[in-house]
Order: sequence, then structure tokens, then C-alpha cells
Amino acid sequence: VPVHGPRRAVLCRRQVSVLRERQRVRTEEAKVTFEPTGRTVYVLPGTKIIEAAGRAGIILQSPCGGQGTCGKCRVRVMSGAAHADAPAGPHALNDDLRAKGHRLACQTAINGPMVIEIPEESLFEHRQQVLVSDSGARTELNPTVRKVHFSLVPPSHDDDRSDLTRLREAIGPAINVPLDLIQALPGFLRRNDWKGTAVLADGTAIALEPGDTTPQAYGVAFDLGTTTVVGTLFDLHRGVELGVDARLNAQIAHGDDVISRILKVRESPAKLLELQQAAVGTLNAIVASLRASTGVPADRIYAVSVAGNSTMQELLCGCDPSALGEIPFVQAFDDPLVLRADALGLDVLPDAEVFVFPQIGGFVGGDTVAGMVAAQLDRWDVPVLLIDIGTNGEIVVAHNGKMLASSTAAGPAFEGARIRQGMRATAGAIDKVLIAEDVSCNTIGNRPARGLCGTALIDAAAELLRVGAMDETGRILAADEAPASLPRAVRDRLVPIGHETNFLLVPAADTSIREDIYLWQRDARELQLAAGALRAGTCLLLRRAGLRPEDLGAVLLAGAFGNFIRRSSAQRVGLLPRVPCSSVRFIGNAASMGAKLAMLSKDQRAYAMDLKRRTEHVDLSLDPEFQAEFAAAMVFPTADEVPCAS
Ligand code: FES
Repeated sequence: VPVHGPRRAVLCRRQVSVLRERQRVRTEEAKVTFEPTGRTVYVLPGTKIIEAAGRAGIILQSPCGGQGTCGKCRVRVMSGAAHADAPAGPHALNDDLRAKGHRLACQTAINGPMVIEIPEESLFEHRQQVLVSDSGARTELNPTVRKVHFSLVPPSHDDDRSDLTRLREAIGPAINVPLDLIQALPGFLRRNDWKGTAVLADGTAIALEPGDTTPQAYGVAFDLGTTTVVGTLFDLHRGVELGVDARLNAQIAHGDDVISRILKVRESPAKLLELQQAAVGTLNAIVASLRASTGVPADRIYAVSVAGNSTMQELLCGCDPSALGEIPFVQAFDDPLVLRADALGLDVLPDAEVFVFPQIGGFVGGDTVAGMVAAQLDRWDVPVLLIDIGTNGEIVVAHNGKMLASSTAAGPAFEGARIRQGMRATAGAIDKVLIAEDVSCNTIGNRPARGLCGTALIDAAAELLRVGAMDETGRILAADEAPASLPRAVRDRLVPIGHETNFLLVPAADTSIREDIYLWQRDARELQLAAGALRAGTCLLLRRAGLRPEDLGAVLLAGAFGNFIRRSSAQRVGLLPRVPCSSVRFIGNAASMGAKLAMLSKDQRAYAMDLKRRTEHVDLSLDPEFQAEFAAAMVFPTADEVPCAS
């Protein structure tokens, strides 16, 4: 007691002071309860509601990255003190809504205890429509990981060669054996009767395992999207797919698009670590789920491949992507990275090899290269155009072994951002629109409509153009300007509001939000911007390649959005070149397929590197012709026009 007494007393004083400090902080913190879930968190005054919700595990929509300009993060303060900045702009809340307690969560700081209601439409829903199927490309099984079962002759008076020399004789003299394995080797060999299995990755031994474990070799291929991450577990011994899991990228709490996340890091460099951990956490959640469903142990996963856009790959690797946020949009790396899993914190064998795809330039990143690998883009005998419409739109033109790649800011409108009643492709989103005697709208999950997603935006505009209720400048015509042939029920949906006409898609009584859902005139303008950028970019790349749109033998549509689009509608609004419909092919989740191919074959990795080396990056922001082309592409093509300005 005399020895330990004073020491314990010191510890107790420290503990007391820690407790007091915690108590002090806790008394300063405000209790915030979120309804209808009842989740509660304690936050310091000044914390924005959107952050507090994130801490409670409630992810709100934030397509504008918390700039207060999209209006999608709306919540209702049921009780308590809040300080709100009131941003101006089209999505600012009107006085009536503000009087009822509605606030923008990204603009409202917590001042004291609060109870906040989260409307369903403000949630970033988890049941997003995700494409995990692929077109079925095949490759020879030739992974960088291989296993060698060995049985060594033990040392004797006549043979006193070192343990390492004996091992090298079995696994190959050129194999690099790192120090930690050399340290473990003597004990391993003597404990296991000089037998075991060596795991080799790209010429380096990464593990020694007792017994013959050669059939047990696994890898995970990731398509690391801005919104969704898809992981596929493979048996590398047999080349068989064991399972697929897809989840939201946890970075979504920091903004919906890459620009929001780049801005977060630029504003506060400490955010880089948070964003990296969010990405790693998502990959680990997928690995855990795949392991749970297959029984594959973590230390038998030896290889990981990752294909993502430039920002996602850089954030995953902990590289500051700030230079991507300003002209001339410079990437942190372009050659492929081969890393150790423990350097990233992945829950697989610590020495597992992580292959991160090469990048082409600017916003044309590893996912585009992976898509090119999957499509074997340089091996077509006709001119081919690859379009991947995700949050960004990437375009690659390939002809006679020459490839040109570019990216455009196409995605926000197609993902529902900047669309007044836009939403992602989740339950309740209108995803198809047809006009005949009246309007028919299909919703995802057959749920009552609560907004429209990108495919519906394209459909609605294309249909209005087709029936003559929208002109080529994108103006929705007033009822008395529309052609006489327009059915009465459709004409009645041309509703004047203010100085503009908007098109009623679903009346309030048939929606879950009890509001009319329109294609607003302003939405048509956003579509013109997005489709125009993609169309102008395509025209420029084709011209640089010495091609005209009608020369294209194939148009390959990649990505989840591309696979749900109606080809005829996309052509009508100028999003796709007017080639015969049979030449437009959906190639599935090409980035995911490319990641799998790189996992299964080192030849495919070399192919990825070769495609990257041979592809010229065209930065449209620096191209003097782009603005003129873009202005021309803002006008929708006429019904019979080839949709390129030249
Ligand atoms: S307005 Fe709050 S996230 Fe856009």
C-alpha cells in the first residue's frame, strides 16, 4: 500500500480532472434529437445541423456540398434554438416555410437543445438503383498473386545452407523476401516440419502459411464511385466470382459530387484524412459483408484492385486533390499505384497488394481506363465512342489505334441536382415519361412519385420536343402556342407560373409529397447545359480524330445511368450522336469489369497501362473552340438533324 498509494492518488486526481473536463464540455454541448428516428447526439453550439445529423448516422442530401444553393437538405425545427443564415437564390426557403420551422440544414447552426424533424425526401436514401451486372468480358486467369507449396530438405551435417537459401530454391531464386518474413522463417520452418505455402505477389513473398493452402487465394475488385462503391470478391485460384456487394460511398456526407469534396479539402486540409477514412471505411464494410456471406478469412485476401475517378482514387490514397479544383486540373499521379493494404488501412492481409488504376489526365481517371480495358477500346475495327455518364461525363473516341479522352460537367443534372424537383434514382423517383393521349410516368419501385431522376428529365424533354410542346431553344410553349394536334389532356398540363410555362408531370394527389411535380422551365435549361456540354465535347473529340458523328460504328454507354437511359430520348435531346439505335450498346458497369480484369490478370494491368499511355487527354476548358461548340450545342437538335454543330 505505501508503494502504490501516492501513485494511485495521482492517477485519481488525473481521472477527476479528465472527468471534470468531460463534464464541462458536456454541459456546453447541446442535446439534439432527430425525429422520426429519435436518434440523439450532443454537439457544441455552432455545429451545423447537417453535421450533427451525420454524427447521428443520418445522411442528408447535399448535392451542392453545403453551399445553401440546392435546397435539398431541408429539415424542420420542432423545438429549440437555431441560428440560420438565410441564403438567397432559387432554393431559398420562403417566409411561409420558415415560419413553419423549415430550415436548410447546411446553413443552420445549433444554439441549444433541439428536436429536428428530417423529412424523407431530405434523406440520402440507401436503396439507390445500382448496376452490378456486367457484359461478361473474359480474360485468361493470370493474377499477380500465386501460391507455391513447398517441402524443404532439413539441414544436416552435410548440408548447412541457410533457411532462406532453402526457401528460395523452392519458390524461385529471384523472389524478393522481405525482412519480416526472413525474421519469421527459422521458427516457421522448424514448427511446420519444413513444409508450408508461400504467397507470392509480383515477385515478392508476402506470407508463409502452414500446410498446403494453394487453393485458397482471394481478391477483391472495387469500382470506387463518387456515390456508390461496388466490390466483387474473387477466388483467384479458380477465377470464379464469389460475391458482390454495393454501398454508398461514406464520403457522401461531405458532398454529393467531386467538386464539393475537393472544396472541403481546400477549405480545411484536415478534411483529407476524414475523406480518406470514409472511403477506406466503405471498402472495409464491403469486405466485411463479402467475408460474412462467403466465409473467406481476411488473411486469405491477397489482392485488391481499385478503379475510380481521379478525385476518388486520390482521396483513397490520401493525396490532396486540390489541384484538380483549379485550371489546369492537375492530377496527383497518373501511373498506376501498387500499395500495401496496411498502408491504406484495408481489412485484408496487411501485405496484400493494392492496385490503383492509372489515370489519363484531369478528371479522366482510373474508372475511364478500366472502362476502356473492359471495352477493349483500341481493338474495334470501326470508329467507336465510349461515354460514361456518372457524376461527370467521360468521353473517349477511338479510331485506328488512336484514342482521345475528355470529361465534361454532365452529371449534376442527370443525378437530380440543380433540378427543382430532382432526385437520385431511388424509390419514388419518376424514371420514365411517355406522352400519348395523356402523360404516363413510371416510378422506381412503383411507389407514389416524389421527384424525377435523370432519365425522366431526358424523357420528358424528348417527349415534349417530339409532340411540339417544347421548341428547339428549350422553351416550353404556352398552351395556346402548342400545335393543334396536341391532345387536350396534354395541353392542360402546360401550366403558366410567373413568366414561364412548366409541364405538369404528376398532380399533387398522386404524389407522396402532396405537391404537383413539374418539369420546370429551369430544369429544361439545366438539361440543355448538361447535354450541350457532353455533345460539344463529343463533337470536338470527333473532329480532332478526323471523324464525323455518322462515321461512328459503335457508341458504347457505360455506367449505371447509361444503362437506364432510353436511347431514342437521349438522341432527341442531343446527348448521344444520331447513329442507328443498333449501334448504341450498353456495356454495363465497365469500370467494375475493368477492375475485375486487372485483378485476374497481370496482362490486363499491362493493357491498362498501355491504353493510358496511348490516350491523349483533351482538356476542353483550354480548347478555344469549345465555347462556340457549347453555345451551338445548347440548342436541341431538330427531329431530323445530325446533332453536331459541324
Ligand atoms: S442547400 Fe443545403 S446542401 Fe444544398
